[in-house]
Amino acid sequence: MADWQPLRFMQAPGPKAGRMRFSVYRFDPEGDAGPGTQEYVLDDLTPDMMLLDALLRIKEQDETLGFRRSCGEGVCGSDAMNINGRNGLACITRLGELVEPVKLRPLPGIPVIRDLIVDMDNFYRQYREVEPWLQAREAQPEVERFQLPEERERLDGLYECILCGCCSAACPSYWWNPDRFLGPAALLQAARFIEDSRDEACDKRLDQLDDAYKLFRCHSIMNCVDVCPKGLNPTEAIERIRKRMLRNST
Ligand code: SF4
Ligand code: SF4
Ligand code: FES
Repeated sequence: MADWQPLRFMQAPGPKAGRMRFSVYRFDPEGDAGPGTQEYVLDDLTPDMMLLDALLRIKEQDETLGFRRSCGEGVCGSDAMNINGRNGLACITRLGELVEPVKLRPLPGIPVIRDLIVDMDNFYRQYREVEPWLQAREAQPEVERFQLPEERERLDGLYECILCGCCSAACPSYWWNPDRFLGPAALLQAARFIEDSRDEACDKRLDQLDDAYKLFRCHSIMNCVDVCPKGLNPTEAIERIRKRMLRNST
């Protein structure tokens, strides 16, 4: 498991760029050395360059450094990491926002595979557990399943999740119970289908979540809201599920 740092410090005015120092977590499961950090220095940076661009430059210096990335546009969620103590996406974090040395660590609370790459298997298992697909008894209509505009609006703030994992990896309840608490990301996805007027499995979904750990380990600490790069509010989504449960039980 990666070392982790307090979540709320750092975003002070950054450098005027130029030269910057980076302290990057390193771990090679096949090497003899244990986990550690490695320092890198880059020149000729500009404040509006993204952290992912800097990482790609570091990779040119040291091709052994491991990290994930794909879209480079804040869409795929694959370059989530802990940046100066706060989870975020490297591709939409400007160097000018960061204090030096920029400390890059893997997402906290998730087993590390190598360097900044974490093992998301449990995260995706939990995603699958909430059955994130529309469930309806009627056969697939020829054109579409209709929804009123106000029904569609209830999905705003839920469907935009990119499954980056920043929220779950910032949640203390998830750190302590990663195998039993589903975590904010999976629960936001559960809410997305519970709230969908076209879905007919709402009661089953609520029954499956009615568990001391799966849902009720959320203590509304709101770290998840603080770090979501898409500005979503998993705490509110979890609260919506709880209210639905309450309404169903009365
Ligand atoms: S509000 Fe709930 S899900 Fe979000 S960080 Fe806190 S305990 Fe975790
Ligand atoms: S809710 Fe936000 S932080 Fe959590 S997985 Fe989705 S996009 Fe990432
Ligand atoms: S590389 Fe896709 S979100 Fe950053």
